[in-house]
Amino acid sequence: MEGFWNLTSTISLTLSILFLFGYSYEDVAAVPTKHLCRPDQRDALLQLKNEFEVLNSSFAYDYCIYKGIKPHGKTETWMNNSDCCTWEGIKCDAKSGEVIELDLSCSNLRGKFHSKSSLRNLHSLTTLLLSHNDFSGPIMSLIGILSLLTSLDLSRNGFSEFIPSLIGNLSHLTFLDLSSNSFSGPIPSWIGNLSHLTYLDLSLNQISGTIPSSIGNLYNLTYLYLSFNNFVGEIPSSFGYLNQMNRLHVYYNRLNGSFPIALLNLTELSSLMLDGNEFTGTIPPNITSLSKLTIFEAGSNAFTGALPSFLFTTPSISTVDLSYNQLRGILEFGNISSPPKLQVLNVGNNNLRGPIPATLSKFTNLVRLDLSHYKTRGPVDFNIFSHLKWLEDLHLTHLNTTTTIDLNDFLSYFKRLRVLVLSGNLVSFTNKSPVSDPSLLPELQLSGCGITEFPEFARLKNLESLDISNNKIKGQVPGWLWTLPNLTYLNLSNNTFTGFGNLTTVLVSRLSSLIFLASNNNFTGEIPSFICDLRSVYILDLSNNNFSGLIPRCLGNLNRSLEVLNLRQNRLHGGLPENIFESLITLDIGHNQLTGKLPRTLIHFTSLEVLNVESNIINDTFPYWLSYLPQLKVLVLRSNAFAGPIHQTSFSKLRIVDISHNHFNGTLPSDYFVKWSAIGISSLGKKYDKPDEMYMGDFYYHDSMVLMNKGLEMELVRILKIYTALDFSGNKFEGEIPRSIGLLKELLVLNLSNNAFTGHIPSSMGNLTALESLDVSQNQLSGEIPQELGELSFLSYMNFSHNQLTGLVPGGTQFQRLNCTSFDGNPGLSGPSLDEICRDIHTPTPHETLESEEEVLSWIAVVIGVIPGFAFGWVIGYILFSYKPEWFMNPFVRSKPRRSSNTTH
Ligand SMILES: *[C@@H]1O[C@H](CO)[C@@H](O)[C@H](O)[C@H]1NC(C)=O
Ligand SMILES: *[C@@H]1O[C@H](CO)[C@@H](O)[C@H](O)[C@H]1NC(C)=O
Ligand SMILES: *[C@@H]1O[C@H](CO)[C@@H](O)[C@H](O)[C@H]1NC(C)=O
Ligand SMILES: *[C@@H]1O[C@H](CO)[C@@H](O)[C@H](O)[C@H]1NC(C)=O
Ligand SMILES: *[C@@H]1O[C@H](CO)[C@@H](O)[C@H](O)[C@H]1NC(C)=O
Ligand SMILES: *[C@@H]1O[C@H](CO)[C@@H](O)[C@H](O)[C@H]1NC(C)=O
Ligand SMILES: *[C@@H]1O[C@H](CO)[C@@H](O)[C@H](O)[C@H]1NC(C)=O
Ligand SMILES: *[C@@H]1O[C@H](CO)[C@@H](O)[C@H](O)[C@H]1NC(C)=O
Repeated sequence: MEGFWNLTSTISLTLSILFLFGYSYEDVAAVPTKHLCRPDQRDALLQLKNEFEVLNSSFAYDYCIYKGIKPHGKTETWMNNSDCCTWEGIKCDAKSGEVIELDLSCSNLRGKFHSKSSLRNLHSLTTLLLSHNDFSGPIMSLIGILSLLTSLDLSRNGFSEFIPSLIGNLSHLTFLDLSSNSFSGPIPSWIGNLSHLTYLDLSLNQISGTIPSSIGNLYNLTYLYLSFNNFVGEIPSSFGYLNQMNRLHVYYNRLNGSFPIALLNLTELSSLMLDGNEFTGTIPPNITSLSKLTIFEAGSNAFTGALPSFLFTTPSISTVDLSYNQLRGILEFGNISSPPKLQVLNVGNNNLRGPIPATLSKFTNLVRLDLSHYKTRGPVDFNIFSHLKWLEDLHLTHLNTTTTIDLNDFLSYFKRLRVLVLSGNLVSFTNKSPVSDPSLLPELQLSGCGITEFPEFARLKNLESLDISNNKIKGQVPGWLWTLPNLTYLNLSNNTFTGFGNLTTVLVSRLSSLIFLASNNNFTGEIPSFICDLRSVYILDLSNNNFSGLIPRCLGNLNRSLEVLNLRQNRLHGGLPENIFESLITLDIGHNQLTGKLPRTLIHFTSLEVLNVESNIINDTFPYWLSYLPQLKVLVLRSNAFAGPIHQTSFSKLRIVDISHNHFNGTLPSDYFVKWSAIGISSLGKKYDKPDEMYMGDFYYHDSMVLMNKGLEMELVRILKIYTALDFSGNKFEGEIPRSIGLLKELLVLNLSNNAFTGHIPSSMGNLTALESLDVSQNQLSGEIPQELGELSFLSYMNFSHNQLTGLVPGGTQFQRLNCTSFDGNPGLSGPSLDEICRDIHTPTPHETLESEEEVLSWIAVVIGVIPGFAFGWVIGYILFSYKPEWFMNPFVRSKPRRSSNTTH
């Protein structure tokens, strides 16, 4: 069994080394030396050093810096000629000279602990810190070694067989930190033998399985961190014995079951974090018996029942996070005499409704408050907030009230506000009257607030992030925005801005990396060249505007910073510039009037993942040379003037390719798809660390596209990375459909309609087990529909119409559900199956359209559900970024299927 080590041989080896070791110890004693270091310990360390590779770069740079350590290769300084007790990361026992502490955290190390690792020879280890490296392999092996660490020489005993449970109890280890590595597999039950452990951190690994109940043996454990792994099942009731436990962090796993009642026994508990799991049921009222609990986080679970309001006023508590659950009821605090200690209250994104109680104003210690999506369903007295002077972070999105928030008044309440999120409420302000000091506010989110005028008060000098999207602001973008020295995120999308105003005074060059989103406005004229002067723009989205003219050549100045350029749906003309954008990951210039050829310089865009030139007038041959782009995942050439044959190429990462509605012609050799490996390899099992990683794009920007699926145009507002589609429709391809199509096992959507394909439908299509939508209509296909297609259980849309197909229509439930029109124009088709399908010929009703919309949505829901580790690391972003845009926690794919305007018939 891979990764499982042979205990018996390890033990015997350990024992022989123990023996040798006793021997050399006498040596050392006989020849006194100034060095504290014992040679056996030195040798063990030098051997350990050689077991691992030292990398040039760190895997967890940010975390290490956050912890105050600059990652570096600590072991590289370990040299034979110096006292090993002075080596970096080593601490020895002053008397025995044995290594008692090994700190290799943030040391850029990579490798696996094998069962014979010389770590076994550091018998007296009490502290082992290996965090923030790239150690991998089964966690079982390492814990096996650790449970064998003992300085007791058992070799003269008569034991014939050792099991870790026997020896392990003698391990001195009290402090074990293996966090932020790539350890995998289950925790072995003999972890329970490390009985001296007081601190155990296994978070941020890929450890799976259930939490062994033997952890309940670690009576002295005070800190247990298991977050960001893949643990499943319930928290064992043996946790009830860990009554020394001070902090228990198990967030972002897949733990389930109801609230673990056993935890109520942990009377010393001060920090309990259960967020990001799959817990259900209610939060028990007797959680208040944990009289030392200061932090309770249970967000992003499926807790139901009434809001446990009793928690908010318990004397010890300072942080309560219950966001993203299904809690009901209203916020109520009862009688409050003195101000509660509560500093953080997050009950956002539940099903709470009712008025905001005036007693909230008693919570004067609050620093962070999130009531997002609290449905007040009535007027709100925003004066309640005027007492919460120390708030730094206030989230009040979508309060479902008609009361308008007067921003001038509102801002004057606070002294330290850093993040203000009012999106989805009505907000008004006057730019004239003085405001206390909003100029200190670094982050302001006012999306969808019915705003008609740009807020200018005090000119928000400290602004780093401004989201003013989805409002009704007309006219010019104020020039002063570009003078803000710290601006890194600006979202102006979905307003009716028409221009960029007077830019003569603009002091743009100080702007550091900027994300600039301005889609869905009414900008006209040329793309302003000042954008090229912004020192480093990282994302530039000007899609869905009325920009005309050429794509500015000066955008090339942004080389090396620009990662996303989206100019979709404008009125740009001319060719694509030759000299630019080598750093791009997404280039979307669809729906313009661009002409000429694809510039061959694209070949240097080695990071490019998405190339979408849909609906232009690009007149070129098939860009087979794009196969040199190692990262290309989405290629859309749809509706241009591409012509000629499409050469056989290898696209190793391509998963979505749409070359429909061009003038491509010629035949496709039968092995055409042999080298399209990405659509052939399953990626469903892939684990994504952040929800954004499930989608094409990044934290701030998601690639979108429109695709023909099931006879409908479907808008993928976010493209799931696992999505696959191949659309060759509306060209002039002839000859047979390549048999190698059957290799594309992951394909979900296949559209070959409206070409001149002849011959039979290859039976290899029966291998496309993931296929959802198949359209081969309007060709000259003959022969029978392969019976194998009847077995494709996900195939819910097929269109065979207008060919010369003959013979029996396959049975099978998927065929039964088809519409008779799917077979139109094939007079040779017959059989009982067809008779049944066409029994009552009818035209689709609006009701059916609705059904297919639901189908698309539910399909997407299924795909999301299938991804293991979906929840994993939602909150990495939460840790790394001090704020989280609202949609970050709502990673849904919205799809808007609509009747296609150019469906072929
Ligand atoms: C647990 O802690 C107590 C008090 O510090 C100590 O006396 C005892 O030996 C410890 N038990 C183990 C198994 O380490
Ligand atoms: C709670 O702790 C006590 C004392 O350690 C122990 O006797 C009891 O069994 C524990 N209860 C549960 C439910 O684990
Ligand atoms: C807490 O309440 C639950 C029922 O809600 C009960 O089963 C449990 O024994 C109680 N535990 C303590 C420590 O009071
Ligand atoms: C509040 O929510 C209800 C139901 O969702 C909706 O009908 C109403 O328009 C909302 N009111 C406001 C002011 O958002
Ligand atoms: C901008 O950021 C810098 C560095 O983070 C900070 O010192 C400064 O106060 C911020 N604000 C302004 C207006 O420069
Ligand atoms: C644009 O903003 C309006 C509110 O001004 C909103 O109703 C609409 O849904 C938004 N559109 C998009 C695409 O976000
Ligand atoms: C633009 O701003 C400059 C400097 O503030 C001013 O001199 C000029 O008149 C302005 N131009 C327009 C068209 O407003
Ligand atoms: C966009 O601008 C054009 C002219 O520049 C104008 O005719 C049109 O009404 C504007 N659209 C909106 C929604 O303001």
